[in-house]
Amino acid sequence: MARPSVAVSLPAEESVPVAAELREAGFTVVTVSHPDELEAFLAGNRDVAVAILDGETDFDRSLEFYGLLRDNGRAIPALMVVSPRTLDKLGSGGAGSVEDEYFTRPYSAESLRWRVEAMCIRSQTVDDGSGPVLQSGPLEADGWSHPATVIAVFNPKGGVGKTTVATNLASALQIRKGQNVLLVDADTVTGHVTTSLGMNEVRTVVDSLRDEPDGGAVETLADLAAAHSSGLRVVSLTSSPLNNEILEPSRVTALINAARRGFDYIVIDLHPSYGALNQAIFEVADRILVPVTPDVPAIRAAVQLADLATELGLRERLALVINRANSGVSVADMERTVGMPSLALLRSGGLLFVRAANEGRTVIEMFPREKISEDFDALADRIIGTPVSAPAAKPAFGLFNRQKVAVRA
Ligand SMILES: Nc1ncnc2c1ncn2[C@@H]1O[C@H](COP(=O)(O)OP(=O)(O)OP(=O)(O)O)[C@@H](O)[C@H]1O
Ligand SMILES: [Mg+2]
Repeated sequence: MARPSVAVSLPAEESVPVAAELREAGFTVVTVSHPDELEAFLAGNRDVAVAILDGETDFDRSLEFYGLLRDNGRAIPALMVVSPRTLDKLGSGGAGSVEDEYFTRPYSAESLRWRVEAMCIRSQTVDDGSGPVLQSGPLEADGWSHPATVIAVFNPKGGVGKTTVATNLASALQIRKGQNVLLVDADTVTGHVTTSLGMNEVRTVVDSLRDEPDGGAVETLADLAAAHSSGLRVVSLTSSPLNNEILEPSRVTALINAARRGFDYIVIDLHPSYGALNQAIFEVADRILVPVTPDVPAIRAAVQLADLATELGLRERLALVINRANSGVSVADMERTVGMPSLALLRSGGLLFVRAANEGRTVIEMFPREKISEDFDALADRIIGTPVSAPAAKPAFGLFNRQKVAVRA
């Protein structure tokens, strides 16, 4: 199927690399510098997925462009490129429609391309012959309506790579496999997924639940999730280890189940404990990935988990992921000891993880050709290709209700 078109109105030094990147990705791109050019392009093209506009160099001109996206019954989302300062000034007023998004300077053409990909994933171009219409919202009886597979990443031993696996697997599924992924940081004690992805001050589930009794809106995980430059959507349960009583396990699992409708995969990073919240999340997880490093304490913890999982009736959902597989105990010995085969092996990525975290990116985004990214690719393939247990509840919800989110480019 042909890829949709994208209109780009940016200063020349930005529009040239951005147009080249988008064309490389298969999009039809038109660069426009005057509203008349955009008008002409929109009149002749029904499949315009996104218009990338400069949100600050000439704000009045941007507004003219923006108006055209809404003229004649059109509803084409705008991706407004702004400076972080302008974004702050915009405050909660934000863009004109829930479909519009912001992208902050400085940015790379590649990260902007992934943002466009994400916007396309979240919308579906519908050509009903009446003109360019981009429809979003829950769709009936198609690929979007199947419930997500929930993958919990857990080992009761600290530091074995749970967060690394959750974040980079989510990124691999999103970027390399074209899946629509929600990454949930459910480590209520030492969770740092959003900060390591360069997403600061994001609204958490605890923030939302605390606001609810004061008349705050009931928000879904999709509402709360912030978009990362990779296209991943990311939400944290809390930003503080204290006073999280409001996170009742049943409330959290209801939110997870409700989010199944909007995503292909929900990847959940857990704290290393057997607390009530984790046990409830195990219940709703279709798969529990157990990262294990080749050392005795990590293997011992995995053996204990395998035994407990048998007691809890979860054993068939568990799968080992051997992390830093190129050192220490052999893979065959680990599999034998834990009594489970491994789903995938991940080698040591050395400092690549640190370098990626310094940039607020995942290794998959930043070092796509490195062997470690290939390992995650193979893990993503195994996940996609491996059948999972029966899906849980399938509640309806507003699929694409999103709030404005700040995104680091
Ligand atoms: N394959 C790998 N190659 C190189 N470094 C790795 C690898 N896996 C994990 N690390 C590093 O090891 C450290 C611990 O990893 P991570 O935070 O993912 O563990 P965790 O199980 O989530 O820890 P915690 O139990 O504290 O939440 C991090 O600094 C991470 O970058
Ligand atoms: Mg962790």
